[in-house]
Amino acid sequence: MDAVWNAIRALSIRGAPAIGVAGAYGVVLGVQATRDRPVAAFLDHLHKVADRFRACRPTAVNLPASADRMEAVARGSGADSAEILLSLLLLEARKIHEEEQAACKAMARHGAKLIENGHGVLTHCNTGGLATAGKGTALGVVIEAHEQGKRIHVYADETRPLLQGARLTVLELMRAGVDVTLICDSAAARVMHEGRVNAVLVGADRIAANGDTANKIGTQGLALAAHAHDIPFYVVAPTSTIDPDLESGQGIPIEVRAPEEVTVLPGTGSGKNGIRTAPEGAQVYNPAFDVTPWRYIRAIVTEKGVLQPPFEDSICGVMRARHEEAT
Ligand code: MRU
Repeated sequence: MDAVWNAIRALSIRGAPAIGVAGAYGVVLGVQATRDRPVAAFLDHLHKVADRFRACRPTAVNLPASADRMEAVARGSGADSAEILLSLLLLEARKIHEEEQAACKAMARHGAKLIENGHGVLTHCNTGGLATAGKGTALGVVIEAHEQGKRIHVYADETRPLLQGARLTVLELMRAGVDVTLICDSAAARVMHEGRVNAVLVGADRIAANGDTANKIGTQGLALAAHAHDIPFYVVAPTSTIDPDLESGQGIPIEVRAPEEVTVLPGTGSGKNGIRTAPEGAQVYNPAFDVTPWRYIRAIVTEKGVLQPPFEDSICGVMRARHEEAT
C-alpha cells in the first residue's frame, strides 16, 4: 500500500482518473494483511486505509470518491468474514478500473464530434493514457478524431512547473501519429491570436455542481484567453470527476506543492539533479490547480454525452442517471 500511496503523492501515478483507480487497488493492498481479523477490526482498519488515500492528493475528487466507494461496498455488504470482504473490495476496484476504461472510450466518441478536419487544438497538462485507465480524456478525444481520419494540429502547453505537457502529452501524441507542437505556457494567448486554435480541450480534476472546473494550474488563464479570442473551451472528464456535493468551485481544495518544483527545473532523475533557476531562499507560491468558472466553458464532454450550460441542470441530470444505474 505504501508504494501506491507514495507513487500517487510523488506524481509517478497522476491524473484524476488514474489516481482514482490506483487508490482503489491501493485500498485492497492496504487491508489484505488483516484478512484473518474479525469483521469489525477489518472494517476499522479499512477506514484508516481509505482515510490515508482520501488525504493523499486533495484536489482530484476521483481519489476520495474511490476510497468512499470501497468503504461503502464493504460496509453495505453484510459479509460475515474479512476474507469475503477482501474479495468484494478487489471486485469493486476492478469495477472502478473497467468503468474508467469504458468512460474513456465513450468520451472520445462524443468529443470527437466537436473536432473538425483541419482544426488546431490547444491542450494543457497531460490527459492521455498515462493519466487515465484508457485512451484519455481530452487527449482521448484528439486521438479518436485523428483515428477517424481528421487532420488535426495540436499545440501542447509544456505545463510548468512539472512539464506534464512537454514530457507526456507530446510523447503520447507523437506515438499516436498526431501532429503536435510544444509551446511554452506563456505562448498560448499568442498562438490563439495568430488564429492557429479552433478549440481548447482540457481535462478536469474536480467539477462542481454548477460546472466550475478545477484542473492543472494555468487552465483558468487559458479559458480567459480563449474567451477573449472567441474560441470554444471544452472540458473532457468522466462523471467520476464530478463532485455534486460542491455547489461551486469555491469549495474545491487546491493542492499547494513544494517550492522546489518551481525553483528547480526537473532533471532526468529527482529534482535534486535538476537545474536551480531561482536564488536559494526565494519565496515561492506553488498552487498545483486552479478553478475555471463555468461561464467560460462551452461544454463538458462526459461518457454520458456532451453537457451544455446551464450546467446545474445538465450535471444534475447526468448524476441522477449515474446514481440510478448504480442502484
Ligand atoms: O498534478 P497532475 O499531473 O495529477 O494533474 C493532472 C491534471 O491536471 C489533468 O489535467 C487532470 O487530472 C485531467 S486528466 C485525465
